[in-house]
Amino acid sequence: MKALVLAGGMGTRLRPLTHSMPKQLVPLANKPVLCHALEDIARAGVTDVGIIVGDWHKEIEEAVGDGGRFGLRITYLPQEAPFGLAHCVLVAREFLADDDFLMYLGDNVFADGVHALADAFRRDRPAAQVAVTAVDSPQEYGVAVTAPDGRVLGLQEKPREPRSDLAVTGAYFFTPEIHDAIARIRPSTRGEWEITDAIQALIDRGGEVRAVRLSDWWKDTGRVEDILDCNQLLLDHVTTSVRGSVDAASTVLGPVVVEPGARIIRSHLRGPLIIGAGCVIEDSYVGPYSAVGANCALTDAGISHSIMLQDATVTDVNGIHRSVIGRSARVGAPVNGTGRHRLVVGDHTELEVVA
Ligand code: G1P
Repeated sequence: MKALVLAGGMGTRLRPLTHSMPKQLVPLANKPVLCHALEDIARAGVTDVGIIVGDWHKEIEEAVGDGGRFGLRITYLPQEAPFGLAHCVLVAREFLADDDFLMYLGDNVFADGVHALADAFRRDRPAAQVAVTAVDSPQEYGVAVTAPDGRVLGLQEKPREPRSDLAVTGAYFFTPEIHDAIARIRPSTRGEWEITDAIQALIDRGGEVRAVRLSDWWKDTGRVEDILDCNQLLLDHVTTSVRGSVDAASTVLGPVVVEPGARIIRSHLRGPLIIGAGCVIEDSYVGPYSAVGANCALTDAGISHSIMLQDATVTDVNGIHRSVIGRSARVGAPVNGTGRHRLVVGDHTELEVVA
């Protein structure tokens, strides 16, 4: 079985971060979302991986390389524009040849991973297998209507009136039968070649499509709220590992990871959290569910439930909560307490300022 990872999307809902990086490289617990996916694919026993890339091809290839460090062999498959999930399969036609494959959305995270899903597919080998989970807002997803035995009776893409609350998540398993089904569909009203329509086309010709329900959480990290939630869920699994230095005037509570070269000076760490290599945390508080990227600096600052990307600094500002601070960004307080705010705010940025 091969894997096809989709990393071509634009990530417009994650602006401004995605003005300068692809959404698949946004770090969760200090590791790009896409790398979580690739590790998961390797755990499922798949080694041959095609990654669909768009405008961010170079950045993604720089971050991931040839896959050797994940135990994978990676082929990059450029897509001219994001024309939909089924279009990605078309682009990958030659790479996939006549093999079964796992299609994995590169911005999705599965708590349990896809290992058990892959085992179920290898065992039963239906024409296609989707992974589903009950959600509160099915109209935002592809939705599956299933029989009690797990057979999929029908699918709807982002339906205004959902016939089920089971969302189709981003791990699909296919036999080569999907290629003929894709040849039978046309673009949807949103102008995309929908994989949902292709799977429906399989069902319409009598193909067996099975749904496996996830037993733990799943996240599509499309929005800032999602990446913060997902960061939190991943940090729940952190176990303490302090390889940087923590001075005697600092306190540490709960599970914390302090990477090599990081220095904690007169500060309070309250895990679960992770502090990246080379950070300097001085006279500061880092609270639960914080992921601080490499080479950040906090000075007289306080942060919790937040993500700081590499090389960012926070000085003299406390109470930062559920925030995302981009690479090399600088957050500080006004000089001499003038009560004025000096801001250099990028496009599509969100700020909350106390007047
Ligand atoms: C895509 C699929 C949808 C699926 C979702 C899962 O939606 O079209 O069927 O439920 O991924 O993340 P999109 O993220 O393209 O809106």
